[in-house]
Amino acid sequence: TASVHSLASTLQQHLADALTAALPDAGVADPLLRRSDRADFQANGILALAKKTKSNPRDLAAQVTSAIPANELIKDIEVSGPGFLNITLTDRAITETLAARAADDRLGVPYAENPGTTVIDYAQPNVAKEMHVGHLRSAVIGDAMAKIMEFEGEKVVRRHHIGDWGTQFGMLIQYLTEHPTELDHKNADDAADVDGEAAMSSLNRLYKASRALFDSDEEFKARARDRVVALQAGDPETLALWQRFVDESKIYFYSVFNKLDMEIDDPDIVGESGYNAMLEETCQILEDSGVAVRSEGALCVFFDDVKGPDGNPTPLIVKKTNGGYGYAATDLSAIRDRVQNLKATTLLYVVDARQSLHFKMVFETARRAGWLNEDTKAVQLAFGTVLGKDGKPFKTREGETIRLVDLLDEAIERASAVVREKAKDLTEAEITERGTQVGIGAVKYADLSTSANRDYKFDLDQMVSLTGDTSVYVQYMHARSCSIKRKAGDLSPQPHPELELAPAERAMGLHLDQFGTVLDEVSTEYAPHKLAAYLFQLSSLFATFYDQCPVVKPEVPKDVAENRLFLSDLTARTLSQGMTLLGIRTPERL
Ligand code: ARG
Repeated sequence: TASVHSLASTLQQHLADALTAALPDAGVADPLLRRSDRADFQANGILALAKKTKSNPRDLAAQVTSAIPANELIKDIEVSGPGFLNITLTDRAITETLAARAADDRLGVPYAENPGTTVIDYAQPNVAKEMHVGHLRSAVIGDAMAKIMEFEGEKVVRRHHIGDWGTQFGMLIQYLTEHPTELDHKNADDAADVDGEAAMSSLNRLYKASRALFDSDEEFKARARDRVVALQAGDPETLALWQRFVDESKIYFYSVFNKLDMEIDDPDIVGESGYNAMLEETCQILEDSGVAVRSEGALCVFFDDVKGPDGNPTPLIVKKTNGGYGYAATDLSAIRDRVQNLKATTLLYVVDARQSLHFKMVFETARRAGWLNEDTKAVQLAFGTVLGKDGKPFKTREGETIRLVDLLDEAIERASAVVREKAKDLTEAEITERGTQVGIGAVKYADLSTSANRDYKFDLDQMVSLTGDTSVYVQYMHARSCSIKRKAGDLSPQPHPELELAPAERAMGLHLDQFGTVLDEVSTEYAPHKLAAYLFQLSSLFATFYDQCPVVKPEVPKDVAENRLFLSDLTARTLSQGMTLLGIRTPERL
């Protein structure tokens, strides 16, 4: 595969060289190139440079223009306004660059220059608990980021830090020992036969029953507490029962991830319990090095800028007064594991913004301990809250959190209705398949298309709409391009660099050329919404192209038709590749 320089980067290089030639003493100067409505690109950097060198900006702009050596790229360059450069590229350069992209199976996208190892912590539901919309966000954003970084050449290690440890297991396990058949499934011969819904409903039943007993029966409460001690001491019988809860929950998790069309590998599920063996050492190191200190019997880390409402410092508690370890000790141990054993250069946490203070303190502690440094950074990709249509956190009318599975099923149902209405030649099986791809895609896209740190409204009507910034729109434009190809029959997609391009072709072509640049930005800024925005814009440009530039029509000359088919085809491939990186399918027919 051969990576392709974008037109913008080649132009940028020409201009930077010309700037240096015109002003040899000014050092490296950025021409500040951007896409423009007036021409293809505008360079604004000359203004600042003229100021710095006390020269007339328009004169300097003219000087730079004449310092650009003859080339095949620039068709027209003119000085405008106070000293901008308006630049138009040749149609030939556009078509040739796109042809080079089309010839590459990575669409000419280069690998990152200095790839590292990123351990990404995402999709981390809790054992014996229902998954909710917050878990959806982590899974969807994390899956997209992991795919994008991998495409960019980063080594990605996935870690699903599930909540599989804690005092609540004492109650659950004790209840199970006293009601041993509660997790059995009547019609199932083995775990593979149990469906996720059945698994979750028995876990739910057990959770409620044990909770009720725990709250009403003092003797049960005492037995449950003893269970916690036995669990922490590693009592084999207790551990085996705990494992049953984990296994049962995984059946449920996998059914949801499966519905989400998301691949999760079992070895990547390393829950809180996976770090138990490290907890004591982690605390020891922190205490010995003075990073953590004893305070009121607990082992704590203090921060100058973290204070409670009373003005007193709020510490990170790594070991409780009763000797127990909590969420922080586990995360600190996970950092040691990921840095020292997995050799991470970046730790990325896709976690709710409401946990930002926790991560701020955990990261700072790890820095003080030397586990994080210039070579190893930690980042929280914090996401906002999913809101209902009323703008309040998403709850049922009874105030309960909404089950993720119900939402997904409803999305699939609505999307199937949309597909059914549009489709004239689809079988019932095809409608179900497309409906699922469109419905799940719609949920993922809605989540990915606003910047992660913002809250967003969960509005299924909007999500499955064919107009507006939705995955359905992108999928529809992709399918349209596929249908052009089907209708083109013998005509093959063929670039013709000698042809003049129509405005809609130029606009779409220049945007197609930006794919790699956008991906690079998305992976360094952890901003998948920029990829969604790029794909939506490409779809809109394609819609205009589709209106203005017919392909299969008798009056269109063969070379023009071939060139258009080539542009349409490259658009379909770019949309498909981009959506794949977001975890969204692009069916060829809708
Ligand atoms: N299980 C947690 C929750 O449901 C999220 C875990 C986030 N990851 C971490 N390393 N703390 O809120």
